[in-house]
Amino acid sequence: MSESDDYLVIGSSGFQGAAVARALLAEGYRVRGFARGKGTPAPRAPELTTVQGDLADPDSVREAFRGVTHAAVQLPLHFDARLIETYAHNVVTAAREANVRRLVYNTNTPVPDTATSYAAYDTRRIAEAILRDSGLPVVTLRPPVYLDNIFSPWNGPELAGEGVLSYPLPADLRVSWLCHDDLAAATVAALHREGLEHTTLRIGGPEAVTGAELAERFSRGMGRPIVFRPQEVGEFVSRLGRVIGPAAASGVGGIYHWLAEKPDPELFVADHDLPRRTLGISTTPIARWVAAQPWHSWLDETDTA
Ligand SMILES: NC(=O)c1ccc[n+]([C@@H]2O[C@H](COP(=O)([O-])OP(=O)(O)OC[C@H]3O[C@@H](n4cnc5c(N)ncnc54)[C@H](OP(=O)(O)O)[C@@H]3O)[C@@H](O)[C@H]2O)c1
Repeated sequence: MSESDDYLVIGSSGFQGAAVARALLAEGYRVRGFARGKGTPAPRAPELTTVQGDLADPDSVREAFRGVTHAAVQLPLHFDARLIETYAHNVVTAAREANVRRLVYNTNTPVPDTATSYAAYDTRRIAEAILRDSGLPVVTLRPPVYLDNIFSPWNGPELAGEGVLSYPLPADLRVSWLCHDDLAAATVAALHREGLEHTTLRIGGPEAVTGAELAERFSRGMGRPIVFRPQEVGEFVSRLGRVIGPAAASGVGGIYHWLAEKPDPELFVADHDLPRRTLGISTTPIARWVAAQPWHSWLDETDTA
């Protein structure tokens, strides 16, 4: 790290961006955030100097990048293709002007090779192509599903209260569940490790598990029986919509609709040695992550319908 390095985290008050900002701060980097200032900051979002602006506004993105040497980009859960293209072009223009030494782009999700007709995938592929083709020193991270989604208002109360882990995934689909803190560690490594520019890394946690295997890890971590329930995507979207709004929830639902229609058995499975081999980090076993969460905090939540 040099005295003159400045780190920008786009989406710094959100769940993913806050985890990245925390990890950078913990390693002593000078970090600046970027967000509109409209949303409620995620729990444990760190206090940061933050440029307030909209990714759709080129001037505010340029201001955020001024003097920045390294940037971590999380795009918000917006799924309009034209808007996402605009976000990506604004990031490229500002990053080029700042002459960034490394930019890490988090696609939020795996990205199928071909178009899916679901914006949750296709908008991320568009942004990935714009960033990759920019010639900037970009590293793309494609995460699978986050464990932290399960420690949430739309899952936590039912899990903690009834021992039921509902998730809109086919029961036999294997997923390399990843926690936000490991996403953050991977991002910090991808910002610094030599020779990673212009690569796309399919990251994931250390185990690829089916629904029943996931429930077994939760049973172990929580010390009580937990069962997996493959949830209807519509029910998931409705529960999620109460927390993040119907438009964002419907967009996210596309990920799971596509999996229900045309499951690709490999898409959500990562190369489990990649974090160690390529990024020099170790990732967290599911049961250990589960054991560290305060599940009892959901027990006074009653509305799970
Ligand atoms: N693969 C997965 O499992 C996956 C992937 C993504 C998300 N998720 C889940 O979804 C939930 C939300 O997480 P998240 O981190 O994606 O989103 P989030 O918590 O909603 O954070 C979005 C961030 O972007 C900012 N933002 C939103 N619109 C913006 C704009 N137009 N210009 C500039 N900044 C903007 C927000 O702040 P302002 O609103 O103040 O601008 C915030 O800082 C979490 O539970 C997460 O685990 C899961």
